[in-house]
Amino acid sequence: MTDRELMQAAQDARNYSYCPYSNFRVGAALLTKSGNLYMGCNVENAGYSATNCAERTAIFKAVSEGEREFEAIAIVGGRTGETAPFTAPCGVCRQVIAEFCPADFKILLGTPENFKAYTLGELLPFSFTSDNL
Ligand code: THU
Repeated sequence: MTDRELMQAAQDARNYSYCPYSNFRVGAALLTKSGNLYMGCNVENAGYSATNCAERTAIFKAVSEGEREFEAIAIVGGRTGETAPFTAPCGVCRQVIAEFCPADFKILLGTPENFKAYTLGELLPFSFTSDNL
């Protein structure tokens, strides 16, 4: 699967976003080392703090299916009917990614037409991991 295809999968995942409070649809597509694809969307809640981001939805789906080795994740966001040029993963999602992925893990951000690859180390330097315990 190409980076472009992974970005398109993240865009497609936005279709299932449940976001009646923010109207901000986020999709994530997580590629495993074994070649499987897990998609996720944000799932909001009337008790706002219970909201789950798209990235965590994808990661928790994968981990709950026995996958822990990941190749890359793509993230696309934007208000309903639009695609934002760039949607960064929130701090909590970066921390969850750091639980399972090394510093060179690839994170694709932007739109399917115009995106850039970052590493987890770039987005979450000096992270707190099990190595610190
Ligand atoms: N959101 C994500 O799904 N991923 C992020 O990393 C940033 C924020 C969602 C949460 C909420 O449903 C909406 O975007 C607005 O914050």
